[in-house]
Amino acid sequence: MDTVSNAVHYIFLGSAACFVLGLHLMNHPRTARRGNAISAAAMAVAIAATVWLVIHEGTITTTGWLVLVSGGLIGAALGLYAAREVKMTAMPQLVSLFNAVGGGAAALIAVNDLLQADHPAALGARVSLPGALDIVIGAVTFSGSLIAAGKLQGVVSGAPVVFPGARLLNVLLPASFVVGTVWLVLSPDSLVALYGLVAVALLFGVTMVLPIGGADMPVVIALLNAFTGSAVAMAGFVLNETALIIAGMLVSSSGGILTKLMADAMNRSIANIVVGGFGTGDSAPAAVAGGAAAQVRPVSADDVAIQLAYASKVIIVPGYGLAAAQAQHELGDLAKLLTDHGVDVSYAVHPVAGRMPGHMNVLLAEANVPYTQLKEMDDVNPEFPQADVALVIGANDVTNPIARKPGNAISGMPILDVDKAKSVVVIKRSMGHGYAGIDNELYTDPKTGMFFTDAKKGLSELKSAVGEFVG
Ligand code: TAP
Repeated sequence: MDTVSNAVHYIFLGSAACFVLGLHLMNHPRTARRGNAISAAAMAVAIAATVWLVIHEGTITTTGWLVLVSGGLIGAALGLYAAREVKMTAMPQLVSLFNAVGGGAAALIAVNDLLQADHPAALGARVSLPGALDIVIGAVTFSGSLIAAGKLQGVVSGAPVVFPGARLLNVLLPASFVVGTVWLVLSPDSLVALYGLVAVALLFGVTMVLPIGGADMPVVIALLNAFTGSAVAMAGFVLNETALIIAGMLVSSSGGILTKLMADAMNRSIANIVVGGFGTGDSAPAAVAGGAAAQVRPVSADDVAIQLAYASKVIIVPGYGLAAAQAQHELGDLAKLLTDHGVDVSYAVHPVAGRMPGHMNVLLAEANVPYTQLKEMDDVNPEFPQADVALVIGANDVTNPIARKPGNAISGMPILDVDKAKSVVVIKRSMGHGYAGIDNELYTDPKTGMFFTDAKKGLSELKSAVGEFVG
């Protein structure tokens, strides 16, 4: 290895260390921005080092340069545009599209490597095995992530799409991967094996994600993220690129941990995701408690303000609607007003509230909510019986007591025990459903008051009304 290659490998090692440090800093909202900046800078340095190596080796053609530069510029411009313009609530779709692009690119690297090899038949298992795995994982990620993005965007039905034989297909297709992989490793020059493997992997991505719906999408998004990392790591083995292997494995392992956390939060087994059809509910949607006769109790800003001003303990439950309304600053102001008035205020954060992991933490950090007031589900649930008011803002599925009953789309999902508080106030615009598409029994509970309004408008009104009482 000459001096430049040596230097580049040390740079890769330094970048990898920065990726690990960046991930570690992302553990806490206070340090997460720094972690992101360190990781992004390390990635920029790794890319620059790769280009340096390519120039030094002098192996790239003019066409190669054109592709490299134009691809880099177009990709960077699109990434910058997306990061600046895409709304926070559309982030999950964006992450899914990034997963699709990452998985697809990794799969194409392996396909290209096998097609371009001078003597493909002579390729050893050191290249053909990771190549085959790269194709399988990358192609599954590509098509699966596109379907997931479509579901999140509402282009594909968010409800589980189950067709006859879907579960059997989801067992047979992965089995065919084994056959295709062995075939490709034994005959790396077989175009039938190569394209066949691409086709079944693309098909499996679709059949795996289509039956998943309702509240279970967080698990599949995290899983596809882990798949992207694995595909990229395999591409690293194909190209013999250390930086790709390390970065891919970091994404794969952190995505794997996130998948496990999300699956635990939903009380699902990860194995069920791959055979599909979980979260579909085994029966018709359960009706709201009390059936057609059940009544809701609408309340006004003044009613809620009195309750809040005279409360000793208030637990705020933020959900997707808070993010959609971008009402985090109004919420922060109201909570501060109550805290200054001597009310014990805390925030109950459900792991899948919103539309992406950590969504509520990011949102509340934007409003400078003190971290000490944020409480995770297991810590806060025992506190609900002592709460005078549980103030639910744009949260629905994560508070739905129907999850404790069998036979519906969120059966078994642990929820925030909002219904155990002394009184409940829900701020939302209508009786509309949450992401899982089912009625919420909480809304017809006699101790629940429904404040029907947009979260931003409602919280501003509440702030003024509470201000009058405590001011
Ligand atoms: P949801 O169950 O989705 O409910 C959100 C509620 O917000 C809706 O019922 C809606 O009712 C209300 N809302 C919307 N816009 C509003 C506005 N401007 N002002 C006030 N309210 C508004 O939310 P959740 O409780 O946070 O649960 C999250 C769901 O998303 C779970 O099912 C979860 O599995 C799923 N999911 C999560 C993720 C991750 S990783 N977190 C990813 C994908 C899916 P109205 O229309 O009546 O206002």
